[in-house]
Amino acid sequence: MSNFSKEFIFGTATSSYQIEGGFDQGGRSLSIWDTFSETPGKVVNGDNGRMACDHYNRYKEDIQLIKELGVDSYRFSIAWPRIFPEEGVYNEEGMDFYRSLLDELLKAGIKPVVTLYHWDLPMWAYNKGGWINRDSVNWFLEFAEVCFRELDRYVDSWITHNEPWCASFLSYHLGHHAPGHRNIEEGVKAAHHILLSHGKAVELLKTDLNSQTPIGITLNLTPVYAKTTSVNDQLAANNADGYTNRWFLDPIFKGSYPHDMMNLFSSYVHDYSFIQEGDMASIAVECDFFGINYYNRSLVEYASNENFLFIGSHSDYEKTGMGWDVSPNEFKELIYRLRMDYTNLPIFITENGSAYDDVLEEDGSVHDKGRTDYLEKHIQAVSELQQEGMNIGGYFLWSLLDNFEWAFGYEKRFGIFYVDFTTQQRYWKDSAKRYKEIVASRSVHKEAVQ
Ligand code: FCB
Repeated sequence: MSNFSKEFIFGTATSSYQIEGGFDQGGRSLSIWDTFSETPGKVVNGDNGRMACDHYNRYKEDIQLIKELGVDSYRFSIAWPRIFPEEGVYNEEGMDFYRSLLDELLKAGIKPVVTLYHWDLPMWAYNKGGWINRDSVNWFLEFAEVCFRELDRYVDSWITHNEPWCASFLSYHLGHHAPGHRNIEEGVKAAHHILLSHGKAVELLKTDLNSQTPIGITLNLTPVYAKTTSVNDQLAANNADGYTNRWFLDPIFKGSYPHDMMNLFSSYVHDYSFIQEGDMASIAVECDFFGINYYNRSLVEYASNENFLFIGSHSDYEKTGMGWDVSPNEFKELIYRLRMDYTNLPIFITENGSAYDDVLEEDGSVHDKGRTDYLEKHIQAVSELQQEGMNIGGYFLWSLLDNFEWAFGYEKRFGIFYVDFTTQQRYWKDSAKRYKEIVASRSVHKEAVQ
C-alpha cells in the first residue's frame, strides 16, 4: 500500500451544511437545506444541520485533528448563504470565517481544496426559481468571483460543483434532496444551468482573473451493471448509465448531451430551447483535473413500468451500512473507462468512504472494522491504478467527521472520527488510526524517495 509517488495527495473531505452548524451566526441566511429539513418526512428523525458538528465554532480543534491524522490536504465547501445572505448583498463576516479557516489550515501545513457549491443554495435564490432559472448562472458567478478574489491566494485547488447529478436529478426530479421537487424537466434544466455555471466559473478564474490555481469539477460516478445479458437488462443498464453518468460526462468532455438520453427524456422535456448557443462549448471548457466521488457500483434490471425502464436489482455483494455494494474492482473498471472514453486529465478521488453502525465503547474507542476494511480495499485499488499508470492525483476520504448525512440525518455515520452530537466530542475510530498509518507509511516512503 505504500506504492504512492511522493506527489500523491492524501486528504479528507467535508461540506459546509453537513458540519458547520452556526446556521444563524455571522450573518448567514437560510439555505434550501434549512427549509427542506424543517418539512416533515423529508429527513430521518426530523434532523437538521442547525448545529451539525458545530464546526463553525470548533474549526480550530478540527484542524488539529486533521493535522494529527497527518494528511496532506483537506477538502471543504463554502456556504453560499454566508457570503450572499441576500441577492447582491455581500457579507464580509461570512468571508472572514473562511479566511480564518484557510489561515489555520495553512499554518498547520494542510493544503486546502475548496468546493464552491456543495448543495446549500440560499433560499433567496430558490425563491427566484433556483437552478431552474437561468439567472442562477449569474448568481453563482457573482458568488464564485468574490470567493476567487478573496481566497484564491490561500487555495490549493478549486472545485466548482460537487456532484451535479445530486444537485439536479436527485433534488429536482427524484425529490429526495432539497428542494424536493419531482419533475424530470426541472431536473434536466437544473443540470444544464449547474453545468453551465461550472464552465463559466472556470473561464472566470482562468481568463478574467488570470489565476494559475488548478480548478475542476467533481462528479459522483456509479458504474452500472446489468443483472443478466438479456437485451432488456442491457437496455436498462444503458439507460441507468445515461441517467447517472453520461448525462454529465458527455457535456463536460465531449460538449454534447447523449442523444439516446435526449430522446428518452423528450417525452417529459418538451422543449430543449434552454440549451442556448455557446452553452455546450462553455460547459466543455478545459479544466486542470477531474474529481470523482466513488462509493459503489449499481446493478440494474429491466422494468417496463419505470420512466427510463430500469430499476435497482438485488445484488449478493457485501454491503455497507447504506446497503451499498462494496465494490473496489468496479471502481478500477470505472477509471479504465474514463481513461478510454473521456479524459487524460489527472483524476482526484475527491470522496470515497462508507457508513456503518458504529458503537462508541466506554473507553472512547470505536472498532469500525467494516469501514477500515472498506478504506483499505479502496486505497489498495488506487495504488494498483497508480501502478498501471492511471494518473490518480489524490485520494480524499469521506468523511473527517460523522455529520448530517442529508436525508438520512445523523443516522448514518461516515466519519473516521466519531462525533457525540450531545457533547460535540470527537473520538478516533479505528479507521482513523488505520488511515493515519497508511498515510504515514507513504511519508516514510516519500522521504526515502527524496
Ligand atoms: C456524497 C456527498 C457527500 C456525502 C456522501 C456520503 O454523495 O457528496 O456530501 O453525503 O455522499
